[in-house]
Amino acid sequence: MSDHGPARPENDSDASTDPLGRLRSWWEQAREIGSGIPDAISLATVTPAGLPANRIVIAKRVDDSGVVFVTSGTSAKGRDLAAHPEAAAVFLWPDPLRQVRVSGPVEVLDDAGSDELFASHAPLSRAGFVASRQSEPMDPDGLERLWERIRDLAETPDELARPATWHGYRLVATAIEFWSQDEERTQTRVQLTRATPADPWQQRRVQP
Ligand SMILES: Cc1cc2nc3c(=O)[nH]c(=O)nc-3n(C[C@H](O)[C@H](O)[C@H](O)COP(=O)(O)O)c2cc1C
Repeated sequence: MSDHGPARPENDSDASTDPLGRLRSWWEQAREIGSGIPDAISLATVTPAGLPANRIVIAKRVDDSGVVFVTSGTSAKGRDLAAHPEAAAVFLWPDPLRQVRVSGPVEVLDDAGSDELFASHAPLSRAGFVASRQSEPMDPDGLERLWERIRDLAETPDELARPATWHGYRLVATAIEFWSQDEERTQTRVQLTRATPADPWQQRRVQP
């Protein structure tokens, strides 16, 4: 029995053997329920000036090292990551209400890994990755021209090659927090940390 009522088996079970497995399982459940954008994460980076910056990206997968996403290395976040290869991400799922925080160093996937992720996108997205200089300023009439170019490029998808500056990235998890709230509004927080991916996870509970 916890301070807040009966122990809940999922929340009280030890996540330290496989926290990324638990993250995958929570993610899968959120996808099955299908509300919101279950693949969306907020991705916080540190600018070259040392300031925080945050935006939504799509988590492509969670593997045994961390969370994989894609972006342009020349975007603002790409430049942040080049200067400070560290990030913090948050998944938020509404039903049941759950939040998972993941932070740690960020690595760029190799060309084969980035090519595979590029190829997984629809032609229009790939054309956008090729045509758009993400985060660069644009003339007022630039959007129309850009979309024309994207639609043109998408007509010949086999010719779309991954830009050398567009990558898959892996946020290597060295800290994870599972936050959940049940029907009685009982909130549970479980934190896991490891010094490096080669080290075992250490788990602790913290107050909500
Ligand atoms: C639901 C959603 C999903 C998004 N997914 C991505 C993504 O996977 N990769 C990406 O670079 N930008 C994605 N964006 C756009 C980013 O939020 C952001 O506008 C863009 O990456 C530029 O950010 P930056 O200037 O901080 O680099 C997404 C936006 C939304 C709202």
